[in-house]
Amino acid sequence: MNYFEPFNTYIDFDEFTYEPEGEVILRNLSNMDYMYQDQEAVNDKLSEDPVIYKFHTADIPEEEGHLRHVMSIIYPGKIGNEFYMTKGHYHEEEDTAEVYFTINGKGKLLMQSPDQDIKILEMKKGSVGYIPPYWAHRCINTGDEPLVFFGVYPGEAGHNYGIIEKKGMKKVVLEKEGEVIVEKNPNY
Ligand SMILES: [Fe+2]
Repeated sequence: MNYFEPFNTYIDFDEFTYEPEGEVILRNLSNMDYMYQDQEAVNDKLSEDPVIYKFHTADIPEEEGHLRHVMSIIYPGKIGNEFYMTKGHYHEEEDTAEVYFTINGKGKLLMQSPDQDIKILEMKKGSVGYIPPYWAHRCINTGDEPLVFFGVYPGEAGHNYGIIEKKGMKKVVLEKEGEVIVEKNPNY
């Protein structure tokens, strides 16, 4: 039998580097412009097209039995009143879970069940958020430094952005008068 070779990855907890860096995927505003509420603010920022977040994925088979893992960095910032966030997804294999370990910064882990229930966990350095099977998940950086977290999920999980790309999630996370506010998504 050909056994998959064990390997180490090194995360620098100050610089947020990932070594070996794996596949690096950038999500600019133009990759998710339709997901923000304030389309005027989107248009103002599109010429600059900021990187909203990036992630490093180790090269691991997308197969049952493996544990894929990823380090994500959401930069601090807002589009209008809405904080920088990940696109959010369900898993293609819906009955698979995930764990997010926060390394730096603060934010919210917004989850939505297939019955439209919403749960929000705080993300801060040291938090280990558990995303049970079936829940969609999105992370939002509500702080003023990079929100960095390490995620682990079953190899076969896959990503399903479909419903979220069309409707978003039921709640949005905004800043109003200096406060972090969770509101109903008017477009949902
Ligand atoms: Fe996931």
